[in-house]
Amino acid sequence: MRATSKSVAVGGTTAPTFRRLYFHVPKLNLKRRATHMKPWYEELFKNYGMKYDNESFTQGTRGECDFIEKEIAHNKKTKILDIGCGTGRHAIELTQRGYTVVGIDLSESQLQRAKAKAAAQNLQIVFQRHDARNLPFLHEFDLAIMLCEGAFPLMETDEMNFQILQNVAQALKPNGKLIFTTLNGLFPLFHSVKEFLNVETKVGNATYGQNTFDLMTFRDHNVTSVEDDTGKKQELQCNERYYVPSEITWLLKTLNFKTIDIFGAKLGAFSRSDKLSTADFEMLVIATN
Ligand SMILES: C[S@@+](CC[C@H](N)C(=O)[O-])C[C@H]1O[C@@H](n2cnc3c(N)ncnc32)[C@H](O)[C@@H]1O
Repeated sequence: MRATSKSVAVGGTTAPTFRRLYFHVPKLNLKRRATHMKPWYEELFKNYGMKYDNESFTQGTRGECDFIEKEIAHNKKTKILDIGCGTGRHAIELTQRGYTVVGIDLSESQLQRAKAKAAAQNLQIVFQRHDARNLPFLHEFDLAIMLCEGAFPLMETDEMNFQILQNVAQALKPNGKLIFTTLNGLFPLFHSVKEFLNVETKVGNATYGQNTFDLMTFRDHNVTSVEDDTGKKQELQCNERYYVPSEITWLLKTLNFKTIDIFGAKLGAFSRSDKLSTADFEMLVIATN
């Protein structure tokens, strides 16, 4: 996603007894540390569904679904898997347009919001809690979408991000299609990530500070300030992986995708005629297996 966060990594290997004896760390403190050990993407999406739907980067849903429909030639029989579906904005829009969609996400609270929105519109959509690194689907879907950094590339290691692609590939039928948007590694080489992230921020949106882009890992580290749906303010230390297009091509080739096309990804206006440039914060990837 364009927004991010994280939890502070604290060592958890020392036995509590050892700590108490030698460092006098109070038990209470240890408990608090333990609750902070979740990865940032779990902390951020714990109670953020309503606020999330107001973020400026979630306002392009219809245009994005127009593009998806074109890519599947408006074939209503297309069975779609929405990975990291969040509050279900694409799953709901595509279901309204007559497609069968299954939405999966790691966050129970994002899924609750997705279900409530679907119910309010009398839509029957299967929303399930799964980790995209370990999906239960085998050759079931004609199309997989993973938009606005749904799961990939938020994971803390490159191996975990790759696992997501592996699982998505497995979920697709032969000749299935994958459409996803992800962070463009060319962008931070020429532009400030922090300025980009904060430029269109409205009141109530998450804000980003202390960004550092690591040229060795292509990860942007930042502190994301966010107020959740209950008004609780949090500062989360986040990091997200930016991939250069040639890496994506190689990863997908490794998974036997036959065609891989990469374009720029403008909010609400995905297009095959949008040639990717260093000015694109995100890229649009379309691959067939
Ligand atoms: C930025 S949101 C994108 C949501 C949605 N695709 C959209 O376009 O609005 C990222 C979503 O990925 C989910 N997520 C993060 N890690 C995940 C994982 N390992 N498996 C499944 N979902 C994950 C988060 O809970 C969150 O809802």
